[in-house]
Amino acid sequence: MNVLVVGGAGYIGSHCVRQLQAAGHHPVVLDNLVYGHRAAVADDVTFYQEDLGNRPAVTKILTEEKIDIVMHFAAFINVGESVHAPLKYYANNVGNTIQLFLAMTDAGVNKFVFSSTCATYGVPDTLPLVEDLPQSPINPYGSTKLHVEHILQDLARSGAISSAVFRYFNASGAADDGSIGEDHTPETHLIPLAIDAATGKRGALKIFGVNYPTPDGTCLRDYIHVDDISRAHIAVFDQLEEPNKFIHYNLGTGKPTSVREILDAVEKVTGLPVPAEEAPRRAGDPPSLYADNTKARTELGWEPQHMDIESTIATAWKWHQSHPDGFADPKD
Ligand code: UFG
Repeated sequence: MNVLVVGGAGYIGSHCVRQLQAAGHHPVVLDNLVYGHRAAVADDVTFYQEDLGNRPAVTKILTEEKIDIVMHFAAFINVGESVHAPLKYYANNVGNTIQLFLAMTDAGVNKFVFSSTCATYGVPDTLPLVEDLPQSPINPYGSTKLHVEHILQDLARSGAISSAVFRYFNASGAADDGSIGEDHTPETHLIPLAIDAATGKRGALKIFGVNYPTPDGTCLRDYIHVDDISRAHIAVFDQLEEPNKFIHYNLGTGKPTSVREILDAVEKVTGLPVPAEEAPRRAGDPPSLYADNTKARTELGWEPQHMDIESTIATAWKWHQSHPDGFADPKD
């Protein structure tokens, strides 16, 4: 398949491009490089530096590259920022995505795979999270993703676009060979921050909240390897052959891991202590989020390969060791 990977120079998108190549597909990357990294995309992949909201340009690329499927990873993802600057999030995550849908309809492309998030569920009443629980996001970031899910349902009903929506839990880790990995500015995610604290690149890791109603008082999350996420995106292709299709899947391991357990695992993998200090809760953090992933496993035949948090952290550590300054200053 010819696949346009929108946001293919970002963290999850760039790993997906690798997996597409490995599976014999032909990825083409579109990224405006506001947050993505050109070095995250191999030289043998066709690359367009372009805004997804530029409808004429995107229509031309879709047509000239004979694209069969569009995958969309290009979103702003900082929950805290979305609370302070909601319009920035709605303009990009919803407004520009609508322009992308218009370009697809102009070019006659009718298959779409969307990066959604467990943040669309808000604070769940029951765990693990199954796909048909009510979706009630507690921040603008989650709301923007839910808006796009609703648009996709309407587009499926109208026959314009068939889509698969993946609600990611906590994307983590890096390519097994350590050649690409996570490089966000600013970095807000627990595992890279804990590695930076261990190596002395940053000060002590702040544990946001130690009195949650969880076994050790810190938040529980479901850390799913970025390559496992990517593999699901390819496993879903057959489902998109049907017109009027709208399907959605949780992508998580199903295993809850606490903040303290992550710090212990980082210490074990790196062999370094992680300096940490207790800090107040971070606004907008639900106490516990972990997936029921039965639907993806049974319907897509998908199985996460990295079920052990230490194996996921080991890939992040390998990436960090070879690229201590991320893509900006690679050692190799
Ligand atoms: N945490 C700390 N200290 C830090 C950073 C994080 O204690 O310095 C804690 C958080 O409070 C949370 C856990 O570590 O309990 C994980 O935090 P991350 O920021 O790594 O990830 P989130 O669970 O907040 O966010 C992820 C995605 C978001 C998505 C969200 C859905 O990164 O894009 O899951 O809940 F919206």
